[in-house]
Amino acid sequence: MGGASFLFALVMLFAAQGAGSNQTDSAFHVGELEIVNVTDSGFALAWYSANPTRTYDKGRPLPVPADTVVRYGTSPDPSTWTTVTLPGSTAYHYVEIEGLTPDTPYWVEASSNGIRAVNVSFGKKTVRSPVQLRTLSRPAGERVARLVIANDTHVGESISGEAVRGWPPGFRVDPANPYWRNSTTDLVEEATEAAADALIVNGDLTAEARPAEIDELFDILDGFAGPVLVNRGNHDRAHAGPDWESCSPVPASPEYHDCLTDRLGLPAGSPVNWVRDIGPVVLVGIQSSNLLTGYGEISADTAAFLDAALAGTPGKPALVFLHHPATWQSVHNWVVWPGFMLPPVDLARLQGVLAAHDNVTAVFSGHTHRNYRSASPTVDGVLFQEIGAAKEHMSGYGILDVYEDGLVYRFQKLDCADCLVWAERTRHQYFGLYGHVVQGTLSDRAFTYFFDAA
Ligand SMILES: [Fe+2]
Ligand SMILES: [Fe+2]
Repeated sequence: MGGASFLFALVMLFAAQGAGSNQTDSAFHVGELEIVNVTDSGFALAWYSANPTRTYDKGRPLPVPADTVVRYGTSPDPSTWTTVTLPGSTAYHYVEIEGLTPDTPYWVEASSNGIRAVNVSFGKKTVRSPVQLRTLSRPAGERVARLVIANDTHVGESISGEAVRGWPPGFRVDPANPYWRNSTTDLVEEATEAAADALIVNGDLTAEARPAEIDELFDILDGFAGPVLVNRGNHDRAHAGPDWESCSPVPASPEYHDCLTDRLGLPAGSPVNWVRDIGPVVLVGIQSSNLLTGYGEISADTAAFLDAALAGTPGKPALVFLHHPATWQSVHNWVVWPGFMLPPVDLARLQGVLAAHDNVTAVFSGHTHRNYRSASPTVDGVLFQEIGAAKEHMSGYGILDVYEDGLVYRFQKLDCADCLVWAERTRHQYFGLYGHVVQGTLSDRAFTYFFDAA
C-alpha cells in the first residue's frame, strides 16, 4: 500500500468511525410507547421521540420532533398493513385508530423517522413494536348509555408532584398556561365529541377549593351541554383562613368555609351525595372524605344515603362513584400514609352496603391517580375501577359504554397539544418513578365486563 493509499484508508477509517459514533443518529430515541387502550373497535398509542444524551428539567430527555406513523393489520405480514401518518412533526405522539373489527387480533407498529417505538418499564414486560393486540369483545344487546368519567382535575394547583410541601422536588405550573386549564377544557371538549350522556368528575376537583378555583372549574364544566355530576375529594374540603372567608361557614365549625357547597347550592358543610338516572342506569355519587381534614371517611349518614339510593332503584343497574378506592385490595396495594385511604371500619361499612344490593354493577374511584382494576371477595360480581388522573401522567379519563349485557371501558388520554406535553413531563415526577406507578397494565385501562360472567 502506497503512502497516499494509506492516508486515504486512514481518512476513510476515521470517517467510518465518525459515522458510527454520530450522536445525531445514535441519540435519537423513540421510546415511552404506551398502548393506551384497546377497544371493541380500535386502539390508541402514545410515544415520545427524544435525544436521551441531552437532558433538561430533572433529567428528562430532550424532545425531538419527528413524524408519527402507525401501521397495522390482521396478518403478521407487514406488506398487508394499513399505514396511518399524522400531519406535521412532534415529539409527543398520540394516535387513536377506529373502525376495526371486535374480538380480532391485530399487529400494530408505531414509529418515528423510521425507528420503531419501544418501552421499558420496570416490573412489566418490555413493549416493542410491532405488538400484537386483540380488540375487545362487544357485549350483546344495545348500547344504553355512554359516560365520561374523570377525576383529579386539581384546578388551581401551582406545584405538581409533591408528596408533602417541598418534597420531593415538584414541577412548577406555569401560571400563564396552567396544565389544569388545558386539561379540564379539553376534557369538556372530548366528552362533547364522544356524545357522552353524562360527565362525571369524581373528586379533587380543585387544588384547595378556593373561590377562584371553584369558579374557574365550573365555568369550564358548564361548557358541557349534558349533565355534569361532581364529587367532593379530599382537596375540595372546607378550609379555614382568609382565602376562604367569602364562602359560607360550616355551622358546626364556623372557622371553616365550604366553597364547594356554595357553588352547588347546598347547605354549607353538607355531604355531596347524589342520585341520577341516565337512561336505564342509575348513578350514585357519595362523599368519601372528612369535610374538615380530607381524610378518608364514609360517615354513617353517607352510608345510609347510599343504602337508600340503591334500595330505591331495585332491578336497575347501579354505578357508584366515590373519590376514594373501595376495596381492601386497593388499600393494600398503595403506600401506607395515615388518612390517605378509607379507614378499615369505614371501608367495611361501605362494602356492607354495596353487598346488600344486587343491582350494584360497578364502583369508580380516583384519588390514587392510577389505573387499577380490583375486586372484593365480599362484594361479589362488582367491578371496582380506579381511573388515572386528568391532572398529570397519564393525563386522561375513562369512557364507559353501558350495554344491555355488559360494559366496555377504556382509559383515554387527553389529546390537546399542551396536555400531551404535560403528560410526558409529569411522567418523571417522584424521582422519575411516577409513570411506572400510575399507568397500570393494559387490562387495567381497557376491558369488556360481561354481566353474565360477573
Ligand atoms: Fe388527587
Ligand atoms: Fe384525592
